[in-house]
Amino acid sequence: MRIAVLPGDGIGKEVVPVAVDVLKAVLPGAEYVHIEVGHERFLREGVAMSEEDFENVKKCDCILFGAITTPPKKCYRSVILTLRRELDMYANVRPFKSCMVSPYNVDFTIYRENCEDLYCGMEEVSEDMVLSTRKITRHASERIARMACRRPGLKKLTIVHKANVLRSCELFRNVCIEVAKELSVPYEEMLVDAMAYSLIRDPSRFDTIVTTNLFGDILSDEAAALIGGLGLSPSANIGDRYALFEPVHGSAPDIAGKGIANPIAAVLSAKMLLEWAGRGKEAEMVQRSVDRTLADGVLTPDLGGVYKTSDVRRSLLKYLEAP
Ligand code: NAD
Ligand code: IPM
Ligand code: MN
Repeated sequence: MRIAVLPGDGIGKEVVPVAVDVLKAVLPGAEYVHIEVGHERFLREGVAMSEEDFENVKKCDCILFGAITTPPKKCYRSVILTLRRELDMYANVRPFKSCMVSPYNVDFTIYRENCEDLYCGMEEVSEDMVLSTRKITRHASERIARMACRRPGLKKLTIVHKANVLRSCELFRNVCIEVAKELSVPYEEMLVDAMAYSLIRDPSRFDTIVTTNLFGDILSDEAAALIGGLGLSPSANIGDRYALFEPVHGSAPDIAGKGIANPIAAVLSAKMLLEWAGRGKEAEMVQRSVDRTLADGVLTPDLGGVYKTSDVRRSLLKYLEAP
């Protein structure tokens, strides 16, 4: 298997090497293709990801990604958005499962549509007005709904939308309901504002959530807080041909360079890569090493600990070498 490794910016450069070391420990035969992309590269060379980089990514089976700084100005389109769209990775799968350091007991997965909505890039900009188009199609809604409905062990689907205001959400809602009925999946629907509330009030009632791109982005950071933080939250961007695995978090400029970033979200993203590749046994080994590291109290400051990224790395590798 050939894996493209794109650490990106900030703490991406600190946590992805740990995830690569973990993968190398359980998958010694894989080939790793390191590619530098992101904002730091853009500032240096005027390009965040070249055509050649993109061609090299496409020659790989899947991608391990860190995070890329995207400043709020129109200097370049975020590399992650380009990759999601150009490689048609239409499902962003974000599991939130409590562990021993989590403040709440939850176990649910958000299926976030990954290529359209307000992220479609259709924006008309003039000095005093900007029009951002929200694109929702039957095709994209149907394929994310199908993937959510086929989640192994699914108990109930929660369809999250804002159809009381947006016609685009009405289409998304109707298509999700059609798919749930067709596949005989028990479902409920919830308006996104009520969902934001219920996730705090009663998070353990959720199992499988399907929603549009921007709502999924916002709700997944909220969900990360329920399990102990962004430092523990992995994700998978899945398409029919390619898949990209990345932590939910960003480049965290506030802690970058200090050696204290929590690498577990990146490591659990590597675990999702193993599952995607059909390497269930290796994925379980990675999960066990994470569980044991947490049980030993080897925690970075985001989890209330005093340990460094390198200490967590050492502990993970110790448990992988002597399971
Ligand atoms: P962020 O996720 O980078 O950080 C939010 C907070 O969580 C910060 O206080 C940070 O220190 C903390 N945090 C995040 N990950 C952590 C970890 N592994 N260990 C310990 N603490 C962690 O969000 P932000 O600050 O809003 O964004 C920073 C930049 O990252 C922005 O430019 C944003 O656009 C970008 N971003 C990129 C991606 C991506 O490329 N996939 C995802 C999200 C944000
Ligand atoms: C995420 C990020 C990205 C998004 C940004 C960096 C473009 O927040 O993956 O959650 O909004 O999808
Ligand atoms: Mn986000």
